[in-house]
Amino acid sequence: SKRVAILTSGGDAPGMNACIRAAIIACQKANFTLLGYKHGYNGLLQQEFIPLSLDSTHNLIQQGGTILHSARCKEFKNREGLIKAADNLRQAEIDTLIVIGGDGSFRGAAKLSELWDGQILGIPGTIDNDIAGTDATIGYFTAIDTAMSSIDKVRDTADAFERIFLVEVMGRNAGFLALNGALSAAADYVVVPEFFESAETEIKKIVNQIKAQRALKGPVSFIVVVAENVWPNGLTGLTEALQYHNINDVRPVTLGHVQRGGSPVAQDRLLATTLGEFAISLVGSDVTNIMVGEVNQRPITVPLPKTWEETKPLNQARVDAMRTLMNERYSCD
Ligand code: F6P
Repeated sequence: SKRVAILTSGGDAPGMNACIRAAIIACQKANFTLLGYKHGYNGLLQQEFIPLSLDSTHNLIQQGGTILHSARCKEFKNREGLIKAADNLRQAEIDTLIVIGGDGSFRGAAKLSELWDGQILGIPGTIDNDIAGTDATIGYFTAIDTAMSSIDKVRDTADAFERIFLVEVMGRNAGFLALNGALSAAADYVVVPEFFESAETEIKKIVNQIKAQRALKGPVSFIVVVAENVWPNGLTGLTEALQYHNINDVRPVTLGHVQRGGSPVAQDRLLATTLGEFAISLVGSDVTNIMVGEVNQRPITVPLPKTWEETKPLNQARVDAMRTLMNERYSCD
């Protein structure tokens, strides 16, 4: 019977618990022992693990966060850390290590595979959706929902005052959350890294659109969704750029870590549950150093390096829809 260890690493994401739950139950069925390392790779370095049994699964599917806690672990990036981790896995007699996390966590896992000959399986968990080889990542759908309902709320007060709002959405260096949050909440403009040329060209477009809209309708609300890490100096930089063009009384809102929380929506629970079960079905097989993912609703395996070497593009149909709908109330170049 196999000994399996699981951990959650990097930015937590809604649905990680649903994935842990699926893994616990699937392990129980297969007669595998499942251990949970706490605090991401830190727990692996400290040999800090807990047994995971059916006692832990009750009411777990709907909980946000991760019961195993998470961390970003610097020590794991150097060779000594990796050697320690490999030793600890051998000492705990682990056959398979499952890492739920994003690209940083997968890079760590791939490095570990050079020093440890057990089986390594990655499961994509991040609100950013910036992992190639899988249509979506666990947590992404809930984060879109949170961004959408937050922008809806901003819209209420923006309308009341006919004000301009800038809403910063997470995503690290990818625009998935910003684009889909903006599209689903009918924002007036979106700035994403994938299409950002320069602040100069972008500010011209934003100013033109605000002016065109106001010329047509008088004072109206205008919501610009901005992906984080794109605009030089963030929302402050964009506010100043608008002031320079005589557009004042702008309000910035940074959604921040609320986007990481909350009970997972159905799509995240389904993805997490499917991938958790699928990963356990691979325990003991000869696949290793792979991520399990979903493409067109089918589970697949992808070599770990592919998940960060390739850049996942935004969905073109969504981009087209946003481009058309941003101009719904006026036309501009
Ligand atoms: O990767 C998830 C994420 O929330 C990103 O969207 C964001 O850039 C980053 O993590 C924030 O990291 P931290 O929680 O360490 O501040």
